[in-house]
Amino acid sequence: MTTPQHPEDFLRFMRMRSAKEDGIFWVDDTRLGVFEPEAARRVSAKNWHRFVMHDRLIDMVRRRPSAEVRWSQIRSAWLTQLHTLATAEHHGRLIERMERIIDARLGDDVDLVMLTQDVALRSMLPVALSGLTAGEEDLVRRDLEMKLLRLISPDPGSTWYHLRFIAVQLRSGLVVRRVLRQRARGKRTRELDLADPFVDLLPQLGMDRALDVVTAVLTAIGGPPGTAAASLLYEFARHPEWQKQLADELCAVDPVEFRTSPTSAAPVTHRFVKEVLRLWSPPLLLVRRSKFGFDLGGTRLDPGQWYLLSPHLIHRDERVWKQPDVFDPDRFLPGAPHGPADRTCYVPFGWAPKKCVGANIGTVQLMALCHLLCTRYRLTVDRPEKLTMALRFAPVPENFRGSLAVR
Ligand code: HEM
Repeated sequence: MTTPQHPEDFLRFMRMRSAKEDGIFWVDDTRLGVFEPEAARRVSAKNWHRFVMHDRLIDMVRRRPSAEVRWSQIRSAWLTQLHTLATAEHHGRLIERMERIIDARLGDDVDLVMLTQDVALRSMLPVALSGLTAGEEDLVRRDLEMKLLRLISPDPGSTWYHLRFIAVQLRSGLVVRRVLRQRARGKRTRELDLADPFVDLLPQLGMDRALDVVTAVLTAIGGPPGTAAASLLYEFARHPEWQKQLADELCAVDPVEFRTSPTSAAPVTHRFVKEVLRLWSPPLLLVRRSKFGFDLGGTRLDPGQWYLLSPHLIHRDERVWKQPDVFDPDRFLPGAPHGPADRTCYVPFGWAPKKCVGANIGTVQLMALCHLLCTRYRLTVDRPEKLTMALRFAPVPENFRGSLAVR
């Protein structure tokens, strides 16, 4: 059987085969699909256990391995910083940044995917890297936008576009290096962001590894948050009955309580966000290389071979979800018969020990978008009957133009 090349056909093909072959099968000669929830959990847990970073440049130049830095140490630095940022005050600042970006486009007829991408990325950027000059911020943002466009656009772009992309990427890397160096030398203010812990770790990490770590976060905020926000707007536009339920809850919620802990202050909205992330989890596929050998119910994955994971395919698996293609936030009510069969079946943020560190703040941002849509803005979608969802690197709504106005 030949594997389809088009991303949408490829996913449909994998879903069909996954249903027939119990979620574990060779997609082609080189890649094993691991779409069975428990197997995906097990492979991730073992593959990244005691994962370490080497300094590739030093290894190449000196021809001997550099001192290891444990990935768990990097993650724990991120998580500590995110914990400090999880307050009503910082959530409030995130919401204000979202408002400012939307306010600047009020009344314009816009591509709503690009608008939500812009809102998600620019409001989250200071969490990852703050204190940038306008020029530096513009460069970093352009780099992330170009990375994302390469993944979600149906048009691969010209050679000239690729050359420009490489140039922007290099210049954005130079910005990150400069920020880290200047903070280390006291020439720039230290900031409460996800880059800052690595200023203190520079002597241990070296500049190349520190750049890789900061780039990992920047790339992480440049993709999933924006595509998830576009999917949220898509479901919001398609479900007036849920718009009403969310508005009833969010117009009545205490603003301080919402900023402190939106998930407990607004449980209906939280269910809505969870269901958006179940149906439209970005990225649709994660490509990983195995470091160990795995026996997966009769299929062998050897060290060095590639495997694919997909929250999306697990979330659409009829063996673990009832009516998986139906949008129904109430499946997340306790004891709902069409809810997740167990914890391994709902994985929009991936798997430990590489699970998304931004899961909480990413959820806060999506809930804040619901809050703004229900209390501050009115969304108008041009020709809603033409609205469809395309599956590329991530789900991307198509024919999604419209405008936002103040209520
Ligand atoms: C709704 C929004 C988001 C979604 C759906 C999402 C989803 C994901 C997924 C699926 C992974 C891969 C996990 C794996 O390999 O098992 C990931 C990794 C990651 N995410 Fe997110 N993410 C979101 C928002 C964020 C935000 C806001 C941040 C930062 C503030 C962030 C930072 C990261 C980082 C640093 C990683 C890599 C973790 C590691 O390699 O150890 N994400 N995310």
